[in-house]
Amino acid sequence: METDEFLKLVLSRVRSHLDGSDKVVDFIPQSSLRRTADLSLPLEGLGLENVISDIDQYLRYSVRTNHPGFMNPLWGGLNIAAFAGEIIANLSNNSMYTYELSPFGTLTEQALIKRMCEMVGFSEGNGTLTTGGSNGNMIGMMCARYQADPLGQQRGFDGAKHVCYVSAESHYSVLMAANVLGIGFENVIKVTCDKDGRMRSDKLSEEINRSKNNGQIPFCVVATAGTTVRGSFDPLKEIAEICSTNDIWFHVDAAWGGSCMFSSKYRSLMDGVELADSVCWDAHKMMGVPLICSTFLIKRPEILRTICSHGDVAHYLFHGETEDVDLGRISLQCGRRNDALKLFLSWREKGDAGWARMIEHYVELADYLQTLIESNSKLQMMSSRVWSNVCFRYTIEDINHNDLNSQIRERLVKSGNYMVSKSNIHDDVILRPVIANPAVTRESLEQFVLEVVRIGDEIVRGIPSDY
Ligand SMILES: Cc1ncc(COP(=O)(O)O)c(C=O)c1O
Repeated sequence: METDEFLKLVLSRVRSHLDGSDKVVDFIPQSSLRRTADLSLPLEGLGLENVISDIDQYLRYSVRTNHPGFMNPLWGGLNIAAFAGEIIANLSNNSMYTYELSPFGTLTEQALIKRMCEMVGFSEGNGTLTTGGSNGNMIGMMCARYQADPLGQQRGFDGAKHVCYVSAESHYSVLMAANVLGIGFENVIKVTCDKDGRMRSDKLSEEINRSKNNGQIPFCVVATAGTTVRGSFDPLKEIAEICSTNDIWFHVDAAWGGSCMFSSKYRSLMDGVELADSVCWDAHKMMGVPLICSTFLIKRPEILRTICSHGDVAHYLFHGETEDVDLGRISLQCGRRNDALKLFLSWREKGDAGWARMIEHYVELADYLQTLIESNSKLQMMSSRVWSNVCFRYTIEDINHNDLNSQIRERLVKSGNYMVSKSNIHDDVILRPVIANPAVTRESLEQFVLEVVRIGDEIVRGIPSDY
């Protein structure tokens, strides 16, 4: 097959995928899919015709994240300008380590980082695109580790005494980072939250004092701006003050909530972020830029440069004349894909105002879903909310709610009509749709609520699932 013909066929797949489908997913248990899928790697190549049928196979069994019933993780839908950026970045296949090897890519990434730093309030700041919010949290903690023990970079770091503080509702990536950085899970203190899922600053102070009395070294606080389950925003100003008094690095995990900074209505949720030392912010979550597109921003760029320094051994890559421009000097990666172009193109397309409208629309839709839930006697909101996470459950008296809501979720997913997350708030199992998908509408939310109630009623009446 000729390249032109091949590209036409690929584009026709793109078009029909964008046209949408009835289902979020054709749910097939993994044991069945494993039996039917053709995964063999041939000795002799099968040619481009076969690539087309492989693409069809892949798309057929993929989750359609642009479907209005897709409200499961903290992202969804398709931003078409960003999609074009993804294709073009792959087409050019530039690597981001040096200006020489990615001239325009370097400048776009710098422009984005500069703008995002300004939005955060880091006037002299800098940063890098990373492999995700998890990685951004780890880099923040790595900078904190450097501040606590600058010599550790050369002679190794003894993390046994260093303690980090996070909210009890923080993302699990902080624990992974503790593992990677040699701090250990036990040295990540989960600070009690208030009833709305926000870190309690009085408890943070207590925990810091307790650690000090035990001879430990508090070195980092990670606050969350937009928690994974409830979308809660920790009180950044209060936490910043505690960090400043105790000389502790202050990192803000704004992977999910960072986009609130576009909106004059919601910007105040992150008041105090300018007092942080570092921030991570995912454009691949609420902004809908295709995975992966995530930023790490830092107030004092020299610390990022130091923790990423490689002793200038890479003479084959880095040359003196572009030292201040080469992004490989402020990244943990060597070869690095261009994640900047898709964000750059979508930002140019939408502008700050477009992002603000999109975000406000998502929160309005979440408000509407909350109203639908509150006006149905069989449903119950399970948390207050300020963001687009909606935590609720089906409820009737004298029933094991956790079991019931787990079953509702299973039937929703297996029907292929909806995907929402099942999470826990304390001991309660809840359903957590998140609005971060442009395909979601008021009508699709009305249908969703009817479907949850219909399935809940069915389970209560003992009617078995069709799936
Ligand atoms: C609050 C928060 N921080 C960090 C992360 C990790 O982000 P990523 O998936 O980009 O690694 C998530 C992911 O959902 C999150 O909700």
